[in-house]
Amino acid sequence: MEKKFNRTLVTSALPYANGGIHIGHLAGVYVPADIYVRYLRLKGEEVLFIGGSDEHGVPVTIRAKKEGITVQEVVDRYHNLIKDSFAEFGISFDVYSRTTSDTHKKHASDFFRKLYDTGKFVELESEQFYDEAAQEFLTDRNIKGECPRCHAADAYGDQCEKCGSTLSPEELINPYNAATGNTLVKRPTSHWYLPLDNYQGWLEKWILEEHKEWRPNVYGQCKSWLDLGLRPRAVTRDLNWGIPVPVEGAEGKVLYVWFDAPIGYISNTKELLPNDWEKWWKSEDTKLVHFIGKDNIVFHCIVFPTMLKAEGSYILPDNVPSNEFLNLEDDKISTSRNWAVWLHEYLVDFPGKQDVLRYVLTANAPETKDNNFTWADFQARNNNELVAVYGNFVNRALQLTKKYYNGVVPACGEITEFDQATIDEFRSIKAKIETLLDGYRFRDALKEAMNMARIGNKYLADSEPWKVVKTEPERVKTIINVSLQMAANLAIAFEAFLPFSSAQLRQMLNLGALTWEDLGRMDLLPADHQLAEPALLFEKIEDEAIAAQMQRLEDIKKANEAANYRAEEVLPDTDFDNFLKLDLRVGTVLACERVPKMKKLLKFLIADGLENRTIVSGIAQHYEPEQLVGKQVCFVANFPPRKFKDGLVSEGMILSAVNADGTLSVMTTDREVLPGSKVQ
Ligand code: 2FM
Ligand code: ZN
Repeated sequence: MEKKFNRTLVTSALPYANGGIHIGHLAGVYVPADIYVRYLRLKGEEVLFIGGSDEHGVPVTIRAKKEGITVQEVVDRYHNLIKDSFAEFGISFDVYSRTTSDTHKKHASDFFRKLYDTGKFVELESEQFYDEAAQEFLTDRNIKGECPRCHAADAYGDQCEKCGSTLSPEELINPYNAATGNTLVKRPTSHWYLPLDNYQGWLEKWILEEHKEWRPNVYGQCKSWLDLGLRPRAVTRDLNWGIPVPVEGAEGKVLYVWFDAPIGYISNTKELLPNDWEKWWKSEDTKLVHFIGKDNIVFHCIVFPTMLKAEGSYILPDNVPSNEFLNLEDDKISTSRNWAVWLHEYLVDFPGKQDVLRYVLTANAPETKDNNFTWADFQARNNNELVAVYGNFVNRALQLTKKYYNGVVPACGEITEFDQATIDEFRSIKAKIETLLDGYRFRDALKEAMNMARIGNKYLADSEPWKVVKTEPERVKTIINVSLQMAANLAIAFEAFLPFSSAQLRQMLNLGALTWEDLGRMDLLPADHQLAEPALLFEKIEDEAIAAQMQRLEDIKKANEAANYRAEEVLPDTDFDNFLKLDLRVGTVLACERVPKMKKLLKFLIADGLENRTIVSGIAQHYEPEQLVGKQVCFVANFPPRKFKDGLVSEGMILSAVNADGTLSVMTTDREVLPGSKVQ
């Protein structure tokens, strides 16, 4: 039997506060969640939209190490950046808090303690990877090694970014500390585990039998986890960043980030509604919906529900509409490779065009399979759909009203059969949109809203009021009235998807707030109602703007190629001895000249602290010889002499830095040193 709900609690995955928000986040989680809550609010339903930053876990600590700042500084910086991006894109959270808030620390700690006190955990000793030099246990994300599936050299202990496999550190071939390259040993440590295996039967019934309506990607992933057989999962970690395990003797241990983060949904509700939060989390008539990306499915469908079930007083999610991934120009979005369109950067290049991105990301949402964002598609959808259909219709209706009636809504006269057929078709779309939105099918729902605009556009094109304005003035009044009513309806139909342009449209129509109930009404604008000055809802995006974005991506690709040493295999410790055998020195360039018939070569005479030496280097395309005379350069001093044509011999190798575009810059010293000084 269909459950009867009286309110809806919507959560969206708490993003790690270790970087900005990009189009993949927006398309996968936040835009669909926002469309859903805006739609429910339009319908006048009781709804709460919970967001926040995930500030614990390894990702933020890795970022701190990389940037050489404290973890607190990292989370402060990115929490604010993320929060601002969401606000700018109209993601209408009722609360956006953070997992480092006092409310959350206490709530998560109490939640753990309740499970602990009621014997819901098992304590197990296990062997974990330990870095003896750094004296620390390493968590999955801090361990790298060869992927057992695709053999990429740098898979993480929890996932291979190349082939997407979920992994455990034990599966990696030759695991090492991702930060230092140190090899690892196993050491025993004890942790608390949630015995998921004890909940296997319950989960099978709850998901596989009672939630067959979940999206096939979600249901399928749950089924394969369940088919594999669940095992106990550790909910604590040996780490110095996180919420301390509230048990005596557990010093140095914190709650696993995936234990505390989903509790953040509850804590943030509690922060917003200190006296009323339980109604949202503990009443069977609340519908709980989690919006997430596909890498979060197991945590939201299996682990978190098991935690809630074990605790005993909470409701469970009714649905978990998870999206697949969005690629960018056929390549996986990646923060570390900067292969992304960042929201804060997008707004610099396309100010005021939040709705264009919301539109494109929804029209192309990865709801059932991974999808691809391309700048060409972005431009085409803006120019051919937003501008040419929706914007064009609204603009024509408003401009004609201005031209013929000074911006005053004309009275509607006799409705013809043609008018009625158009209105009926237009109205019939409302039910389709409802069904689609209720079923979390945002992409198709948006298509239907655009179909409403198409009907309006066609109505104006077919009835051609500009041709008969002189001969049939009464008829034209009706056409314009009907068109304006349809434009007002579009402000409602698009409100959840494109809130900024709906607000602008309502402002131009001089209309206040509208509700979902109003959708379909052909009397939203009374006769004699004065409209405001019309302006374009959407503007054409020119080829140059798209070319600039493509160039940016091209530059990123080049920079990645130049910097891809990051992805290369870390050398074994023994290679360090070989490295130390290299004799790197500084010398002063006494003379430098081109080598006849050898376009690429420069011949240097270097003062090296002993005798002078000759070095031949292939950098003639990057320097005029005289630019280098007097400079101090770094060189390898102990390579065997290398012979060139005409008896020319090079006694070493000059070191240079290579730019992403292939240009070279010789390595020199910051201040003058004695010729022959060692580089170390
Ligand atoms: O994948 C992520 O970005 C996680 N920070 C999502 C957490 S969702 C929830 F549990 F808070
Ligand atoms: Zn792999």
